[in-house]
Amino acid sequence: MKYSMTLAALAAGTLSVAAPTADIKAHQFSVQQVARGKHFKNGAIEILKASRKYGSTPSEALVKAAAAAQQGSVTASPSDSMDDSYICPVTTGSNTLHLDFDTGSSDLWVFSTDTPASEQGSHSLYNGEATGKLLSGYTWDITYEDGSGSKGIVYSDKVVIGPVTATSQAVEAATSASSGFVSDTSTDGLVGLAFSSINTVEPQQQLTFFDNVKSSLASPLFAAVLKHGKAGTYDFGYLDSSKYTGSIAYTAVDNSQGFWGFTAGATTVGGKSTGSVGAAIMDTGTTLLYLPSKVVSAYYAQVKGSSNSNTYGGYIFPCSATLPDWNVSIGGTTFTVTGSYFNYSPVSSGSSTCYGAMQPNSQTGGSTVFGDTFIKGHYIVFDQTQGSNSPRLGLAKQSSP
Ligand SMILES: *[C@@H]1O[C@H](CO)[C@@H](O)[C@H](O)[C@H]1NC(C)=O
Repeated sequence: MKYSMTLAALAAGTLSVAAPTADIKAHQFSVQQVARGKHFKNGAIEILKASRKYGSTPSEALVKAAAAAQQGSVTASPSDSMDDSYICPVTTGSNTLHLDFDTGSSDLWVFSTDTPASEQGSHSLYNGEATGKLLSGYTWDITYEDGSGSKGIVYSDKVVIGPVTATSQAVEAATSASSGFVSDTSTDGLVGLAFSSINTVEPQQQLTFFDNVKSSLASPLFAAVLKHGKAGTYDFGYLDSSKYTGSIAYTAVDNSQGFWGFTAGATTVGGKSTGSVGAAIMDTGTTLLYLPSKVVSAYYAQVKGSSNSNTYGGYIFPCSATLPDWNVSIGGTTFTVTGSYFNYSPVSSGSSTCYGAMQPNSQTGGSTVFGDTFIKGHYIVFDQTQGSNSPRLGLAKQSSP
């Protein structure tokens, strides 16, 4: 889906139109873009070696498990001081780019040497001609919920994320991108991690990175471990029990729309009921949390001085307001978003009025979206271990958010 908040859009009162953001993001992180691959002892390989050593014939399943060795993590850094998005180093062909991992879309696209010089800016570029195989006649064209978009041509190339490699990944090279993408030099493109059914490549739809690698992962899943104001990770192929507390609560996924759809239940603030959520999607590519208006108004009823502002197109409050925690029940377990996470940022630089990070889903065309405001602080598993027809989401609390 991708619904990126930007202060510029906020100031212009035009939340549905992507706007240049470079001047306004005052406190740019100097993002440390170092791939931090983790390496794990591969249990299956050890058993396989032992089995051969002692002369028994290893089972076919064991041989397969040993081949399925790919697992590991990649650093996900906030793109700016407002956690507008999280970006990760990704090697496409021989070029390392910084890409926004988006569980709300399914195209892997990049700024490239095919992008007009006037739009390249200081983005890192993918050089498809040097390393890729052009898929002749193939094109792509995507428009995101926030009005931003891009389009272009398609190569097949090697893509490496952390220690995980896809050997023939569709890399979609931009021949044009909207102004928001052009000016946001923190991000060189996206890695779509929703379902391949919504990939936009024509004439033949292409598989996402996850669909390409999942059979070679130790376990067909990935986890988002995003944090407020500091680097987290995306982990592929394994669960890292050091990163969450308690057990993981699983809930069924409805992917009929191509998204990681799920159902969220009751919400409370200060122990009082604030209504039920219903159908939602889990979307790392969206900055904020968008909920049914009754749930949102019940929350802000507990925030002194808050109002739903026409000028800013959403809920605002005095920056000094105390924001209560928010509880939501998912898969029979209660998850809590820390109140301070609902302060997105001042409405303009230096203002004492702040914009809320929980907003009504009228802003996202009626879609309820659990974006980064919810995801950071939690350990979210995008899981296909029950088979590709039974995807599920796993949720737990991060051990050190
Ligand atoms: C959230 O739920 C827990 C119990 O699961 C409760 O102790 C806490 O007060 C609730 N917080 C809110 C904000 O309602």
